[in-house]
Amino acid sequence: MARTSRLSGLRSLAPAERRAAVAAELGIGTDDLAAFLGGGIDLPQADRMVEHAIGTIGIPVGVATNLIVDGREVLVPMATEEPSVIAAASNVARMTRATGGFTTTTTGPLMQAQVQLLGVADVHAARARILEREAEVLELANAQDPRLVEHGGGARRVDVRIIHGRDRTHLVAHLVVDVRDAMGANAVNSMAEATAPLLASIAEGRHLLRILTNKADLRLARARVRIRPDDIGGPEVVANMLEAGALAHDDPYRAATHNKGIMNGVTAVVLATGNDTRAVEAGAHAHAARDGQYRSLSTWERDADGSLSATLELPMPVGLVGGATRSHPAAQAAVRMLEVTTADELARIVVSVGLAQNIGAVRALSAEGIQRGHMGLHARNVAVSAGASADEVDALAARIVAAGAVRADVAERELAALRASR
Ligand code: MEV
Repeated sequence: MARTSRLSGLRSLAPAERRAAVAAELGIGTDDLAAFLGGGIDLPQADRMVEHAIGTIGIPVGVATNLIVDGREVLVPMATEEPSVIAAASNVARMTRATGGFTTTTTGPLMQAQVQLLGVADVHAARARILEREAEVLELANAQDPRLVEHGGGARRVDVRIIHGRDRTHLVAHLVVDVRDAMGANAVNSMAEATAPLLASIAEGRHLLRILTNKADLRLARARVRIRPDDIGGPEVVANMLEAGALAHDDPYRAATHNKGIMNGVTAVVLATGNDTRAVEAGAHAHAARDGQYRSLSTWERDADGSLSATLELPMPVGLVGGATRSHPAAQAAVRMLEVTTADELARIVVSVGLAQNIGAVRALSAEGIQRGHMGLHARNVAVSAGASADEVDALAARIVAAGAVRADVAERELAALRASR
């Protein structure tokens, strides 16, 4: 276990030195993190993963420091192309250390598959008939995945929903399945396909769609954290953050951006571990709209001592077995770095990073504004786009920032000036 995630000074190290520092902290060999080099997979591996493969695309992986989740120090690999994200998560995680970091809960790994039933004359009676034969449906579902059942998982329950829609009434059966350490899509989809004919015959209709729902609201992960006012910029910053949080609850236009900030952290960890980023994103946004209006996923309050008291809850359908998490060497290295052995532990870390990311973004917006922190790194990207060579990037980025406008035309002008001065 990492003795501490408080690795200060990483910024001034070269990437190879950072890998060595992280490996030393985790007590593993630097070779264990070598999979992060060169994109993590070779072409033959890519070719086995998708159809018509022609190559791979590299995304930077950085390490978020300072995080404590349920008392455990965690070093978090984050895959993202966006500057400032990893720094912001690390920065907020540092602010939370004085109060013990993040505390999490989960509901357990329950995924749901839907079976759409059509042509049913008596939907209420059909619902009753299906529920009468629940045991038979569950037995058939579980016969599809004996290994899952051996590991303590399996189909647990059948729900039947009657939905009164725009121009018709729908009948949909849900299989609720404990998928243990899998993301679970394959397991529940197979069960839905296998049980659909039985469900249709009980309903005296026919079946159509047989697929999981990404509104994975029985598989929630929650994190909470407190930050003392002095650690986050003072009482005025906390007050401004509460104003920002209130707008994100009430206004969908702000909520979408607020939640995007959360997903900056969530998606980066989900991607680094080879999990399905779209599944997690679909679940998050469905959860944000669960009361009929799209709202912020997090809540912010001031506790009795004046500290910022923040929570985040969202569906977290991530797994450790199957899929790219098993087959992608960089994802395996990410899992090793996180020192997680269950999907549940991974979910707890992801939701904590999401909350840290959210607080970091809105803290910056409520204090100095987002651009100051963003611009240093953005300037480096603009410098590279303007044609700066590796030994010119830092000097050009500094000139662009000093010029007060991080733009392509300014970068080109300053690059010419830099070259003339050398
Ligand atoms: C940028 O990627 C994310 C933010 O827009 C999030 C927010 O506004 O809360 C900064």
